[in-house]
Amino acid sequence: MSKLFDPNKAAILRSEDRLRWNNPSEIIAAARIAPGSRVAEIGCGNGWFTFDLEKAVRPRGMVYALDMQTAMLQILETHRQHYERILVLPCGENEFDLDDGEVDVVFHANVLHEVSEPEMHLREANRVLKAGGRLVVVEWKPGAGEDEPGPRAEYRMAPERVREVAEQAGFAIEETRDVGPYHFLVSGVKG
Ligand SMILES: C[S@@+](CC[C@H](N)C(=O)[O-])C[C@H]1O[C@@H](n2cnc3c(N)ncnc32)[C@H](O)[C@@H]1O
Repeated sequence: MSKLFDPNKAAILRSEDRLRWNNPSEIIAAARIAPGSRVAEIGCGNGWFTFDLEKAVRPRGMVYALDMQTAMLQILETHRQHYERILVLPCGENEFDLDDGEVDVVFHANVLHEVSEPEMHLREANRVLKAGGRLVVVEWKPGAGEDEPGPRAEYRMAPERVREVAEQAGFAIEETRDVGPYHFLVSGVKG
């Protein structure tokens, strides 16, 4: 069975309830995304984090919103309204249409557990980051109660595994912290 998120279920990614346990503005604040940053958001889906990222980088920054499923990007476009500093870009599984060193931050939320070759994928993230640029990965904590949201337990990645893959892809780990009841954040710096 594919681990890839089904675009037919995209509406559940934008439920009011999600604000309680995966709040985009709180997580972006925890990730320390500065005004003026150029951010590549990989696996942006239908934009749960994208619009708050855009607010965080105003007035001069830019959010490159990438997803390998164009159906998700099409839904994002329908919610876009007045968010001007977002460039939507289809991407390959491990191939982003960005230049070497083009961005300050790669932001990656609820995606890595779906990726089939995580090390190769994060190597591509490393390529598009400037030297000293930051990778931010937000993932589901391992283990899940029956009634809790999120992917099946066997798809989840432990923080140790995220750190290991990020290190293999060329990042020096900066921090690991909980963000909300069900998620953790790992950040790393490109050497
Ligand atoms: C569960 S959704 C999360 C979307 C959004 N980040 C959020 O938190 O609401 C995962 C998204 O990652 C995308 N995705 C999965 N693997 C990917 C890859 N290798 N490269 C780019 N996008 C990917 C899927 O198409 C899907 O839109």
